[in-house]
Amino acid sequence: MVSQLSTQDLDAVGRPLPVFPDPAPLASHGPARVIAMCNQKGGVGKTTTTINLAAALAEYGRRVLVVDFDPQGAASVGLGISPHELDRTIYNLLMERDASIHELIRPTATPGLDLLPANIDLSAAEVQLVGEVARESVLARVLRPVLDDYDVVLVDCQPSLGLLTVNALTAAHGVLIPLACEFFALRGVALLVETIEKVRDRLNPRLEVDGILATMYDPRTLHAREVVARVHEAFGDTLLHTVIGRTVKFPDATVAAEPITTYAPAHAGAIAYRQLARELVARGDAA
Ligand SMILES: Nc1ncnc2c1ncn2[C@@H]1O[C@H](COP(=O)(O)OP(=O)(O)OP(=O)(O)O)[C@@H](O)[C@H]1O
Ligand SMILES: [Mg+2]
Repeated sequence: MVSQLSTQDLDAVGRPLPVFPDPAPLASHGPARVIAMCNQKGGVGKTTTTINLAAALAEYGRRVLVVDFDPQGAASVGLGISPHELDRTIYNLLMERDASIHELIRPTATPGLDLLPANIDLSAAEVQLVGEVARESVLARVLRPVLDDYDVVLVDCQPSLGLLTVNALTAAHGVLIPLACEFFALRGVALLVETIEKVRDRLNPRLEVDGILATMYDPRTLHAREVVARVHEAFGDTLLHTVIGRTVKFPDATVAAEPITTYAPAHAGAIAYRQLARELVARGDAA
């Protein structure tokens, strides 16, 4: 008799990879869980993850708002909005008491996915907010009127730990930390975790680290495998099972100003972000 071997897939650090079920349809929407996409290191996949996780969650019937909170406006560009053509952005919302968030939010080409855009104007907010009362909680205040309209709000942070990022952490329920699988990936993460803990102690007691996401992973290199092993050693199961492979399809999708889930729906990159969406829903980090 031939014995049946059961083979279970393993993740990048050798843990059994659970099957993440398709999220159940939602009968109603909101209130949103706010997730800040945060790492002060540049170019680690914050914006790519914001756009594609948002699109994947929207495919699963979630109502998602992307908040572009980087003066570079990369999330806005990646979702098809030219930021220099905008005369009113999140900057106006932060600085003007009578600005309405409803007028600033725009639909994107992906059904269920809306955008609160930013452009270079936002760089002035960092300085101008310093003199405000409750300067760390301005973003939390301006988002409040729309939280009931969405299931998930994803805030794409700029690569810094300045006042804008502190605002994102103060508005958030959870933080997702993308880490590129490269030399020095872990450098700076201790400072990031310290900042998150300070915000939790002083401003936002509900804040939690939802997970660390390994990005730009190339399984053929020993080095990438070593990096994820080190992250797992340091952070245990905060390291998500899902890893995002390195592929030129992501920059290509950015040029096309589309999420990879519609630009190349069957590509491994699209499949990985759908898995990330299912993993976060299964962990209770997204609706
Ligand atoms: N998995 C990937 N494989 C290959 N290239 C990627 C991947 N993820 C992102 N990129 C590319 O790497 C560059 C940086 O990614 P991204 O803009 O998402 O990082 P970021 O952390 O938002 O950067 P910044 O700190 O400047 O805001 C972009 O050109 C993007 O297209
Ligand atoms: Mg970015």
